Amino acid sequence: MNPNPARSNAVREESMVALSRILPRVLPTLASDADRAVFRERVETHFADAFEMFLHLYGDHYDCHYHLEQTLLLVAEYFATRPATMRARDTERAGDPLWFTSHEMMGAVGYVDLFAGTLHGLHDRLPYLQELGITYLHLMPLFVAPQPHNDGGYAVSSFREVDPDLGTMAEFETVATAFRAHGIALVLDFVFNHTSDEHEWARRALAGDRHYQAYYHMFDDRTKPDEYEPFLREIFPDQAPGSFTYRPEIDKWIWTTFNHFQWDLNYANPDVFRAMLGEMLFLANRGADVLRLDAVPFVWKQLGTPSENLPGVHWIIRGFNAFVRMAAPALLFKSEAIVHPRDVKSYIAPGECQLSYNPILMSHLWDALATRETFLMRHAMQQRFALDPGTTWLNYVRSHDDIGWGFADEDAAAVGIDGGAHRTFLNNFYTGQFPGSFAAGVPFNYNPRTGDMRVSGTTAALAGLERALADGDVDAQQQAVQRILLIYGIVLSIGGIPLLYLGDELAALNAVAYRDDPTKADDSRWIHRPAFPDGRAARRHHVDTPEGAVFTGLQSLIQRRKMLPALAGNDARFHDLQNKHIFAFSRARELLVLGNFSEFRQTFPTNTLLAVLKADDVRLTDQLSGRLYAVGADSAFTMEPYELLWLKS
Ligand code: GLC
Ligand code: GLC
Repeated sequence: MNPNPARSNAVREESMVALSRILPRVLPTLASDADRAVFRERVETHFADAFEMFLHLYGDHYDCHYHLEQTLLLVAEYFATRPATMRARDTERAGDPLWFTSHEMMGAVGYVDLFAGTLHGLHDRLPYLQELGITYLHLMPLFVAPQPHNDGGYAVSSFREVDPDLGTMAEFETVATAFRAHGIALVLDFVFNHTSDEHEWARRALAGDRHYQAYYHMFDDRTKPDEYEPFLREIFPDQAPGSFTYRPEIDKWIWTTFNHFQWDLNYANPDVFRAMLGEMLFLANRGADVLRLDAVPFVWKQLGTPSENLPGVHWIIRGFNAFVRMAAPALLFKSEAIVHPRDVKSYIAPGECQLSYNPILMSHLWDALATRETFLMRHAMQQRFALDPGTTWLNYVRSHDDIGWGFADEDAAAVGIDGGAHRTFLNNFYTGQFPGSFAAGVPFNYNPRTGDMRVSGTTAALAGLERALADGDVDAQQQAVQRILLIYGIVLSIGGIPLLYLGDELAALNAVAYRDDPTKADDSRWIHRPAFPDGRAARRHHVDTPEGAVFTGLQSLIQRRKMLPALAGNDARFHDLQNKHIFAFSRARELLVLGNFSEFRQTFPTNTLLAVLKADDVRLTDQLSGRLYAVGADSAFTMEPYELLWLKS
């Protein structure tokens, strides 16, 4: 349930009273008349949202108004110190607020160390990113973190310091400026559900400081944890069972949803909201265009609930948004909510997260490759793909995390599939245990209590390349390449920002060496986090190698995308062409995308195509191959195995 956007008049009036009291204390902290005028205008526009959020979450707090004023003072400080380059960006984005929905957008995501060694090295990889046409680059967490265990950087010890092995914050700013000059927006992770147990706040809490103990959820004994625990989902049952960790130094239990060294922050404390807003604005001023809100569903807790996706989470995001618009309006949020499809969508709104991963499409693409059937994906997309204006998806096939089969049971049931049994099948298929499977994935966090399991493995390994290479089967290698290009081709045309997981463009194989590293061996996600494969990169233009075929294939898909304005936005309409192997959707009534998810030639009646196009006969050009199709009534349309068509009339 989202907060009600239709605010009551009483709240509106109350907020105006509060504002008239606070503004005279805040404006004098700004140096120039010009700044005061700009800031006043922004505050007047967004204060009611901020106030309402404060009222909902902290209204019972004895000094709610004090906290509100302190928060606005903090925002004014970051407004005042926002660098000229970022202020210029605010102006530029204000003139083009839907920049992120353009068909020219192309995203990539990777680890600085694995992709390029250091921030300096990242700078040197600019030509490579340009070769691919990247305009949006998400860098995985690059902050100081505990060693050696830090959940791939997702245990942050300081949001203001770059891991010295990667470089410095000044180097990050240099990279951000250089990339921006080449049309690449920078995206950083904002790991705001938790800090590491080495963050200064955690250290002080461990030293007995009560002010900082209140930054986290701490309990004197097991009473409360035992009350909460039966409702909570275990995220890492293998390596981090349970959701609470005992620390003998202070004789307390601490809420740790993920690993024991990742301490969940207590957003019921207004000090935490303000402190994290400060960290967020700091990163915005250093050059981040987008912040990925890591593990967003977990930030609000309530006894007797799973403490995921609660209304409090939405208030927090709305509050962050309202304050951010005052100091750093160009900043956007991207939601990382890998939850039930209904909940995924609940975070996507212009006043919450403008961008969101699309885990729904991601899992359905793999489902369709395994089953060779597309009706479940079509049904789910018909129900769940449309978004509000001013927001968009990040469509992807792989990320640094495991794949969970996050489709809705009710969607499966609607097309006659049992969700639970289907998940078991997909787990078996992608870990290569199902007879005839082409995939070479590995299990992630099998939970014997619930039977849940997720899957790790690179795109190439899951799509069949790993096995085909091991078998020396050239035909199978070619099929694997076709599968990769097919699912990326859907991601590139369905609507939203396509997100390339770096390494996929070179068909990187499973990185099994993680098993020999005791700090990583218990987390199979490392298998799909390979270092930049230099050898494969050197062969990226050799189309007779799988890596060359994938690289050049992707490159040309990206170039085509950028030439097709019909691919902007996310207005896809999904069609049933009466062949269960073919996934079909149209964009802006101009472009028809068809994908054959089977390794066999498929046909369907041309009449269904003509009905979709509302024509009696039509000439279509495939924007990918340039081939011409004359489609008349009462015949059959044929598609080759794993073929992808972008047809324009
Ligand atoms: C996110 C990250 C994941 C991490 C978790 C805890 O979901 O993507 O890698 O383990 O949050 O921060
Ligand atoms: C769960 C969480 C997600 C996290 C992932 C890590 O799916 O919902 O936030 O990234 O686990 O495996």
